[in-house]
Amino acid sequence: MNDKLNISPPSQEGTVRLLGIETSCDETAAAVVEDGKKMLSNVVASQVDIHAQYGGVFPEVASRQHVITIYPILEQALQQAHITLEDVDGIAVTRGPGLAGSLVVGLNTAKGIALANQLPIIGVNHLEAHIYSAWLDSTEQTVERDPKFPLIALIVSGGHSELVLMTDHLTYQRLGSTLDDAAGEAFDKVARLLGLEYPGGPAIQQAAESGNERAFSFPRSWLNDSWDFSFSGLKTAVLREVRRLEKTDLPLPVNDLAASFQAAVIEVLVTKTLRAAKEFNAEDILIAGGVSANTSLRQQFLELSEFPVHIPPLSLCTDNAAMIAGAGYYRYRVGQRDDLDIDALPNWPISELV
Ligand code: KG4
Ligand code: ZN
Repeated sequence: MNDKLNISPPSQEGTVRLLGIETSCDETAAAVVEDGKKMLSNVVASQVDIHAQYGGVFPEVASRQHVITIYPILEQALQQAHITLEDVDGIAVTRGPGLAGSLVVGLNTAKGIALANQLPIIGVNHLEAHIYSAWLDSTEQTVERDPKFPLIALIVSGGHSELVLMTDHLTYQRLGSTLDDAAGEAFDKVARLLGLEYPGGPAIQQAAESGNERAFSFPRSWLNDSWDFSFSGLKTAVLREVRRLEKTDLPLPVNDLAASFQAAVIEVLVTKTLRAAKEFNAEDILIAGGVSANTSLRQQFLELSEFPVHIPPLSLCTDNAAMIAGAGYYRYRVGQRDDLDIDALPNWPISELV
């Protein structure tokens, strides 16, 4: 399975213990992970309450908050793992994609620690890391073994909707991505239209639980045979419906609108992923990213897929540093050691990874 990259089982080389650091958006996170699998700690400080008042992530505020939070979070991660930096083999840190002002905080912190403690630093792609959350140990795994290649990965988060063919560790072919809004972004924007709180994903999910998904027939954007996604037409359709309903004296049927919107997003995500798995003879399907926390999306994958579907436990769907240390481990094993002058890459696509 790992011949191409010659990744031998960990036991042959001794345990590799990495400190992971993640600050790409609005979560400040640090974790200690052994062999890309065993989480000794996984600490996340969410800024969601701070950004809720702006209805979305306010980049300057996010950056400043990371500066305040990063060291206490790092200390907690080491304390909870019962180790010191002397017990760490390297530092895996998110290099991109993400908000430039947020990424540099984690990156500069990692560089400082690396320099002071003579540790190697491994710059990690955030999307690759979401994929590697499937290799982390958890009692809540939907499949009780590591993912098998080739696999189809669906990464759906606030900034990305990517359909990826993974033929080996660290080997990706991007089949499709969003042409406009990311899936999570669509949830966030539609939530705002419906007067629901930020972040929109959990708020829409909750409203949808008491709604009728057949109340409105919103468009599904199939884009013919393409593996790409598009959600802006759907968002506009919801907006038009809301404007129409606002002209009546009746209260806005928020739950029905939320349920109908959510069903439209999920149908496209699930159908395209299953179709890709068949087309590319996948062994497994893997879903990751914040939107993979969605209960209805998880249920539909498990109900409709003839392929084993790896779904991270809820705590590993949204941004965290365990997944950064997880992906960092596989990079470490193939010899990646980055220079201390690496820059943040705010627009780093997964297709450019080698
Ligand atoms: O992966 P993530 O934490 O951050 C990014 O890398 O973007 O994803 C955040 C996104 C937000 O857009 C949020 O609304 C969405 O994930 N999300 C959900 C749910 N929980 C979070 N979307 C749908 N249903 C959920 N339960
Ligand atoms: Zn993410």
